[in-house]
Amino acid sequence: MAQLSSSSDVPDMGRRQFMNLLTFGTITGTALGALYPVIKYFVPPSSGGTGGGLTAKDAIGNDVIVSDFLANHNPGDRTLVQGFRGDPTYIVVTEEKTIDNYGLNAVCTHLGCVVPWNSGENKFMCPCHGSQYDSTGKVVRGPAPLSLALVHAAVAEDKVTLTPWTETDFRTGENPWWT
Ligand code: FES
Repeated sequence: MAQLSSSSDVPDMGRRQFMNLLTFGTITGTALGALYPVIKYFVPPSSGGTGGGLTAKDAIGNDVIVSDFLANHNPGDRTLVQGFRGDPTYIVVTEEKTIDNYGLNAVCTHLGCVVPWNSGENKFMCPCHGSQYDSTGKVVRGPAPLSLALVHAAVAEDKVTLTPWTETDFRTGENPWWT
């Protein structure tokens, strides 16, 4: 059961783990950003996944293997993987225990903290300034001005392929702010 002893606690994730995650996101984001031109030069465009998408990686850089992943996760889980530019990105396990067809960039739209999932509250709750997002990443409490950015998620060859979401945001009916 989630425990809250103060408003700054991170319910589903220990503080150290959370800090590790922040470090992971920051370092991998910075490192991948610096290496991007080099990687792009040497790696053919389709090697990141099918159809030019990106294969989701776990915290240590291994491809997420869907069969293994689903064996260890429950319906409703939101789990961080490495997404575009190394950004921490949630993939979602549906009630049917499949990978949902969208993922969420975990970077808070206020000032960029990684937003933890709180399963007890069924929300993403930012520990930095209290913003909240519903289970689909739609902002429901500020100061965050915008919902979490979407990506498409699909399963191919037992891996998760992420592709950019350029269509209408299904949560707001508006054009995506992140493109
Ligand atoms: Fe998330 Fe400020 S960075 S509420």
